[in-house]
Amino acid sequence: MTLQIKKLGKYVGAEITGIDLRQPQDMKIKTAINKALSDHVAIVVRGQNFTPQEYVEAAKVLGDPFPQNFTDYNHPDVEIINIVSNQHRDDEGKRIKRGGNWHTDHTNHECPPKFTVLYAVDVPRHGGNTAICNMQKAYEHLPDYLKEKIEGRETVNVNQGRAAARISPKAVKRENEQKSTPINHPIIRTHPENHRKAIFFHPIKTDYLTGYTPEETKNLFADILMEGIKEEFVYNHQWSDGDMLVWDNRQAMHRAIHDYDPKEQRQMYRLLIQGDRPF
Ligand code: SIN
Repeated sequence: MTLQIKKLGKYVGAEITGIDLRQPQDMKIKTAINKALSDHVAIVVRGQNFTPQEYVEAAKVLGDPFPQNFTDYNHPDVEIINIVSNQHRDDEGKRIKRGGNWHTDHTNHECPPKFTVLYAVDVPRHGGNTAICNMQKAYEHLPDYLKEKIEGRETVNVNQGRAAARISPKAVKRENEQKSTPINHPIIRTHPENHRKAIFFHPIKTDYLTGYTPEETKNLFADILMEGIKEEFVYNHQWSDGDMLVWDNRQAMHRAIHDYDPKEQRQMYRLLIQGDRPF
């Protein structure tokens, strides 16, 4: 088999073929896959048929799997896998719609995950895409007045911050109870491999941006997303069962599109891959 990389979107996405991820991969293949992520922001390998454990082994081609925040949804047999499902319900019995707003993952960690991996177990017939935006392009095209406002600033990250567009009293209570240790990250980070700058934040994990109140931060985030995220910078992944999609959190933000028939199942196995401290 020969590894082939075919570009999908203008600024995000490439499909990788000619690889059986259930087999051990040599360093040359690992380097090619990691380079494809640096070059194309997101990659997809279609038609996989993994057991949960095979999936974890396959994802190790990207690095070391990283324990996840929402432990309630961990896979019962393989705990490092987090199940993202539209069948999960909150304490009031309402369906949980995870990841519907633009974000990056787990910024409340000192070294947040460099890659997020989703493996499609069950997908709706229509809709339910995952959208991935190239945040280097978003930064490049941000108006100067916004660039100036965020230059040199840091997000202060906790489990549940106050800069989210919507924040439930329950979430504030949870944060007060858990009192997470704040972690600072630059809002403009530099990719360690391609050295380009990208916008980097998670609205729900940000308590505030240094120099701004939580309310000002929330408004600033809304402006950044409105000005920075343009259709041409976004790749919309249309799922088929067996797809394995990976994106590079060091230069991407993502969101799930909850536009499908809720009676249909949408279930993904999510893995996160250990990253380094953003700079
Ligand atoms: C996530 O935000 O990690 C999940 C995205 C998705 O379900 O498409």
